[in-house]
Formats: sequence, C-alpha cells, structure tokens
Amino acid sequence: MYMYLYMSGLEVNKILASIILAVLIVTLIGHFGDLVIDIDHDEKKETAYKIDVPEDSTGVGVVEKKEEVIEPISMLLASASVDNGEKLFKKCATCHNYEKGSANKVGPHLWNIINRPKANVEGFAYSKALAEYGGEWGYEELAEFLYKPKKYIKGTKMNFAGLKKVKDRADLVYFLREHSDNPAPLP
Ligand code: HEC
Repeated sequence: MYMYLYMSGLEVNKILASIILAVLIVTLIGHFGDLVIDIDHDEKKETAYKIDVPEDSTGVGVVEKKEEVIEPISMLLASASVDNGEKLFKKCATCHNYEKGSANKVGPHLWNIINRPKANVEGFAYSKALAEYGGEWGYEELAEFLYKPKKYIKGTKMNFAGLKKVKDRADLVYFLREHSDNPAPLP
C-alpha cells in the first residue's frame, strides 16, 4: 500500500513534469509563432515598400532620363551667334568677368576658359567640390555644366539655375571661346 502510494507519487510527479514540459513547449512554440508572425509582418511591410520603390523610382526615373539627355553643343558651334552669346552673358556678368587680366568677382574670371583646367584661377577660393573635380573645361564639359551647374558638380557654390536651351549654351560657349589669345579650334 505504502509502495503503491509512493509509486503513484512518482507517477504524479512524472505527470506533473510532463504537464510542465508540455506547457513550456506550448509557450515556447507560442512565442516562436509570434516571432514568425512578426517576421511575416516585417516581410509584408518590406514587400509593400519594395513594390512602392520601383513604382516611385520609375516615375522619377522617367523624369530624370528626360532631363539627363543633355544635347551636345558641338554640332551647333559652327553656326553659333556671338551676339546672342554676349546677350546671354549678362546672366553671368554679376558674378564673372571674361576680359584678359580681369578680376574675380563672386566667381572666377572666365578669360580663356575653353580647355582651361578646372578650378585653376589663382587666388580664387573654389568650393571643395569644384577644386577636386579635375579635368578641363572642354566645349561639352562647359556646356553640360551650364545646363545645370549644381547637377554637374554637386556642391558647387555657383548659384545659377542653368541654361535649358542647347542653342543658348552653344552661343554662350562660342562667345566665351572668343575671349582667349588663341581660341580653341572648334570640335
Ligand atoms: C551668382 C553668381 C554666379 C553666376 C550668375 C554665374 N556663376 Fe559661374 N561661378 C560662380 C562661382 C561662385 C563659381 C565657383 C564655383 C565653385 O567654386 O564651386 C563659378 C564657377 C564657374 C566656372 C568654373 C570656372 C573655373 O575656374 O573652373 C565657370 C566656367 C562658370 N562659373 C561659368 C559661368 C557662366 C558661363 C555663367 C552664366 C551662364 C555663370 N558662370 C553664372 C558664380 C556664378
């Protein structure tokens, strides 16, 4: 009888242990389930986000692509108008001189600008962005810069929106070309 009770005590212990274990397992699985559901949620969020992005970027991308087709000026230089270039230079004249030996203003002088190394006017405090850009102001580089200065050189301190018309850029660049002892040959 005593033995039986003792045994049954063991049985009870075993049963209790099993129940506790079962509860533990269920609890763990429950938490794990939560985790899985959480991850699922996140993934769903991310997926929704991922779908949004291509839509957005496609929209923006189309606009950007339109903007990024910057027509080259080379073909237009031969028939460019110096007079129109001079008129257009009024937009630059607040900040730039172009005569030989002229002083810097808000911006550096632009004498002999075609094929001039970028940022090489002595004594002018260029932005880091332009100072480190490198290369020379070839016809197309200059025209592309003038299309949208802040896009061509991110961080430039030249505050000028840009010249949208390719003809204007060609005329202005042609006008600047003339202000040199040896105007660069046309491309
Ligand atoms: C509001 C003033 C301002 C106007 C307007 C402006 N610029 Fe500038 N420009 C600057 C400044 C400032 C810099 C120096 C930029 C830097 O260091 O990032 C500069 C730099 C330049 C450079 C580079 C020169 C070099 O030595 O590398 C060129 C070329 C240039 N400008 C051409 C023009 C032309 C052409 C126009 C007119 C269509 C114009 N800019 C209008 C202020 C101006």
